[in-house]
Amino acid sequence: MRLRKIPEARTVVGNSPIVISETDARSQINRWQQQFAAAQPLYLEIGCGRGRFITEAAAAYPDINWIGWELREEMLLLTLRRLEQPLANLRLIWGDAAYIDQVFAAGEIDRIYLNFPDPWPKNRHAKRRLTSGCFLKRFRQILATDGQIFFKTDDKDFFLISQENFAAENWQEVAAGIALEPDMIISEYEARYRRQGKAIHYCQYQRR
Ligand SMILES: C[S@@+](CC[C@H](N)C(=O)[O-])C[C@H]1O[C@@H](n2cnc3c(N)ncnc32)[C@H](O)[C@@H]1O
Repeated sequence: MRLRKIPEARTVVGNSPIVISETDARSQINRWQQQFAAAQPLYLEIGCGRGRFITEAAAAYPDINWIGWELREEMLLLTLRRLEQPLANLRLIWGDAAYIDQVFAAGEIDRIYLNFPDPWPKNRHAKRRLTSGCFLKRFRQILATDGQIFFKTDDKDFFLISQENFAAENWQEVAAGIALEPDMIISEYEARYRRQGKAIHYCQYQRR
């Protein structure tokens, strides 16, 4: 989904009390719960895009602390615009999730959502996939012992490669298949692909 540059995005996002830059996020390592009104399970969506999933999830599940991580300030601006008021259980990180293991301590995250990440189809870009071995190793490090990853994509090849990566990194598959019915909360991309009649592949993995 192409999005033009929005001139005010950097300023608005940079001044938002709920957005934390990736650099500042590193100083929060092992004390993320202090960011929130209550200490409760911490769920993370990586590549939260325009924020439909993360904002609706945070509003629907106030007993979970939610973090959306996004590279592009334009996307974060659109996410902020979705919020009528700040939610006490939602924070956004602005930057590249490649540094995730410097931002969260071992076991600090209870669940990771990967909703329709960029598939990076060319082999030379394989390491950029959020389901590549190097990302899966970092996710293992920051996830709680019983932590899980929820992954969805419309791209069958990407899905199959990702399943191979999870298996190679010794993750236990909890569920996998085609999601016929939408969950209560879905992302922008899922809504779009469902409108187009595309199959939604999903899988769920647990640390072994
Ligand atoms: C294809 S979009 C999906 C957006 C959303 N999850 C959805 O399902 O509607 C992927 C998003 O991930 C973001 N992204 C890609 N690589 C990233 C990275 N390394 N760190 C943080 N965000 C990233 C992109 O900027 C983009 O907004």
